Amino acid sequence: MSRSHSNSGIIFGSIDEMIPIPFNKPCLAGRELAYVNQAISSGWISGDGAFTKKCQKLIAQHLGVSGVLLTTSCTHALEMAALLLDLEPGDEVIVPSFTFVSTINAFVLRGAKPVFADIRSDTLNLDESKLEALLTPRTRAIVPVHYAGVGCEMDSILEIAKRHRLMVIEDNAHGFFGKYRGRYLGSFGRLATQSFHETKNISCGEGGALLINDSALIERAEILREKGTNRSLFFRGQVDKYTWVDLGSSYVPSDLLAAFLYGQLEKVEPIQAKRRRIWEFYHEHLRNWVEERGFGLPVVPAHCDQSYHMFYLLLASLEMRQRFIAHLKERGISSVFHYVPLHLSPMGCKYGGRPGQCPVTERVSDCLVRLPFHNELTEADQTRIVAAIEQFPSG
Ligand SMILES: Cc1ncc(COP(=O)(O)O)c(C=O)c1O
Repeated sequence: MSRSHSNSGIIFGSIDEMIPIPFNKPCLAGRELAYVNQAISSGWISGDGAFTKKCQKLIAQHLGVSGVLLTTSCTHALEMAALLLDLEPGDEVIVPSFTFVSTINAFVLRGAKPVFADIRSDTLNLDESKLEALLTPRTRAIVPVHYAGVGCEMDSILEIAKRHRLMVIEDNAHGFFGKYRGRYLGSFGRLATQSFHETKNISCGEGGALLINDSALIERAEILREKGTNRSLFFRGQVDKYTWVDLGSSYVPSDLLAAFLYGQLEKVEPIQAKRRRIWEFYHEHLRNWVEERGFGLPVVPAHCDQSYHMFYLLLASLEMRQRFIAHLKERGISSVFHYVPLHLSPMGCKYGGRPGQCPVTERVSDCLVRLPFHNELTEADQTRIVAAIEQFPSG
């Protein structure tokens, strides 16, 4: 096979190899566009229309949670959770340092102090064995993140939370349809949050949901989501006019987005089956390469059904990880790292974060690389990705 260099510096082999493989790609799964048209024809494209209700019902039934409210993002669902907590300035919220900024920013916005926990070196989830050492009389909540859609150790986390009367809010941005001990992620905490961002298994571009497992919180959550008004009660005919009754903001997505999302939700089984095949292909074809070099692969404990959200490798060092990303980029393949440790971010340092505080997080953040993963990734793409990885000089 002849090789040549393009102007962009990408090394090309066959015609197929000239086509870049993106890290992520928005994909249609079924009737998304027909439903968007239907929403427009119905004359209702603002929030809480017919498609929002259909999505909420489908998610609630499928996951077995008492309440579901679609939101404009997972970030906004987390902000609603923080409002529902009624935090006082100086209250503390425990989160893994290895997470997206919104997991904690939502609570800091309400005056909370972030307390950063380290992660387990196997699942990369919040290390439950280190939780109790972080508790103080000001601790109000724990926010476990089901990293890569593999469940955190919820038995231990819930037991600690119960003993210390703390609220558990699951950040389930990655874990839609994943399970822990046979129960859906998102059904354990009093509250949980989902993301339907473009990079997630099921998506509407930007979107999210608040899952409410304590029905006592549903009415207030509806108010917070509707700018602090009791508009939802008005729509249901439970009050004859609506007014400002609490804090709140605009967390309601357009029914156009809900229509798109419903088209994806209807296809959750084929989407998940496809993603499972993608994950298993990577695992099967990279296992030996990784093991021979002493690198790391995702760990999924037997009691967890993962959501097949992502596939990552743990390389030996930051220098190697950066070389690896550049090596794939030269071959037209886009791969990305994940999470700069929050305790070492400028904001984290303001709250006392320092190097060495979360050693597992610091190592993983240097060494982790995520491979392309989207619903239209083909076996030919994956074969090319695996071949490119096998050419990586890893010595
Ligand atoms: C763990 C986690 N939580 C929250 C979010 C925020 O999601 P969204 O973009 O829907 O606000 C992300 C984003 O990817 C995430 O990875």
